[in-house]
Amino acid sequence: MTVPTAPTEGANMYDELIAVHTIMRRGAELTADAFARHAAGEKMRTKTLLSTANWLVEFVHHHHASEDELFWPVLRELFPAKVAELDGLTAEHEALDAELRRLGAAIHGAGDEAAQAAQAAARVRDLLVAHLGTEEPALAEMFPQVPDAEIVRLRKAIVDGAPRSGPDLVFGLLEDPDRPRGYALMMGAFPPPLRWLRPVLLGRYRARKKALGATA
Ligand SMILES: [Fe+2]
Ligand SMILES: [Fe+2]
Repeated sequence: MTVPTAPTEGANMYDELIAVHTIMRRGAELTADAFARHAAGEKMRTKTLLSTANWLVEFVHHHHASEDELFWPVLRELFPAKVAELDGLTAEHEALDAELRRLGAAIHGAGDEAAQAAQAAARVRDLLVAHLGTEEPALAEMFPQVPDAEIVRLRKAIVDGAPRSGPDLVFGLLEDPDRPRGYALMMGAFPPPLRWLRPVLLGRYRARKKALGATA
């Protein structure tokens, strides 16, 4: 008889990763939609648009860097047959980074550059969605097999190096419109003083969406 076992640290880490990916997918969509409205001449708070786009650029870049520098080396060691697949994911990170840099450059312009920023934001969203669609099934297979001690070390390194900007976006996107798998695990990883701020941060998130002209 097989005795049911508790999920491994790696299986939990995969669920947390899904929560982080959900934040990125929703953030990229919010940003792309806001830039499209801005380029169409809709009035909005430019300062909010810039801070949202800057947050997205930093958050996505940081996530890729932690995968390339921390996760992939561990996975390459454990799964030599997957090296080419991991290299492919890193190449997609590079392509996305190039697009994030274009978005970063365009958001500091005006006039015609509004159209360029809208285009770059849409490209970031599309590339990101495609990338996560390839990455998630690959990692779903590998993560649960990673030894617990390795996952504990990786989690600590990720938490220590995580960007501190835009906590309202992190909390808001994590539950708008619903809570993804891994929500509770991710909330549990935040320091309690930050968790206590949840209602304040959700209020700020709603104000931000309104300033960006988002209706839903
Ligand atoms: Fe990822
Ligand atoms: Fe990735």
